[in-house]
Amino acid sequence: MKITVIGAGNVGATAALRIAEKQLAKEVVLIDIVEGVPQGKALDMYESGPVALFDTRTYGSNDFKDSAQSDIVLITAGLARKPGMTREDLLMKNTAIIRDVTAQVMRYSENPIIIMVSNPLDVMTYVARKTSGLPKERVIGMAGVLDTARFRSFIAEALDVSMQDVNAFVLGGHGDSMVPVVKYTGVAGIPLTELMPKEQIDAIVERTRNGGIEIVNHLKTGSAYYAPAASAVEMIEAIVKDRKRILPCTTLLEGQYGIDGVFCGVPVKLGKNGIEQIIEINLSPDELEALQNSAALVDKNCKSLEAMFS
Ligand code: LAC
Repeated sequence: MKITVIGAGNVGATAALRIAEKQLAKEVVLIDIVEGVPQGKALDMYESGPVALFDTRTYGSNDFKDSAQSDIVLITAGLARKPGMTREDLLMKNTAIIRDVTAQVMRYSENPIIIMVSNPLDVMTYVARKTSGLPKERVIGMAGVLDTARFRSFIAEALDVSMQDVNAFVLGGHGDSMVPVVKYTGVAGIPLTELMPKEQIDAIVERTRNGGIEIVNHLKTGSAYYAPAASAVEMIEAIVKDRKRILPCTTLLEGQYGIDGVFCGVPVKLGKNGIEQIIEINLSPDELEALQNSAALVDKNCKSLEAMFS
């Protein structure tokens, strides 16, 4: 197993280290355009191996040649948000970056699974699919796992229960229009609605929607990376170990949920072939409408890029 991480910034480097510490691959290659940074960070990680107890070979490079024959490529390249910016403000610049990066990846790996982390997430997943020509099962966006992790952590904190016992789903695009599905959220099988009053649930849903910007406003110079990296690595682990995890991920919908030809976050089964199944759960009319509206926003942004692809 060889995993390449594109982008040696905070998300990329944190993800690379987690992959190594979990020994999910024999080799992890960290690639960035900035000279020295991927090399330095990857060497530093490697030197932590004897103490952190892993044998994964981590190395850094500025050359996509070193990504050759990767099984999985995690793309974290591009600009991150600063205070006052929406994820959509990154659209044009990151489209150009993701298009270039994906083309380079495809020069050296025949049939990788690409996991997208760059924002605006759902649109960048579309850009990677369009540029790579890979089967739709092999181009997957990471957002639902992160949004769900935030939702779960806030619920665990509010109820003073283990994070492990909190189960939730956040669907839709990764943005203000995301759809936390309360009906499928609970603690050890107990529906959330039996454990918390509606106002408290609403407040947690709102905080989840704004989870990304809450971190940006603290950091001021960038956006979140520990939870995004952990979420991407959870997806990678499901693929590497063929675990058939059911996780909310961004995938190309072709009629499911009444959405056609748009990348959007829904529950999927993740295994060695990437997305092995899209799961359609029953949503209330309001939730379904919210999901379709969220997809419509993604679609609008994708269509605005058409000139860049003609
Ligand atoms: C977030 C950014 C990375 O949600 O989209 O933190």
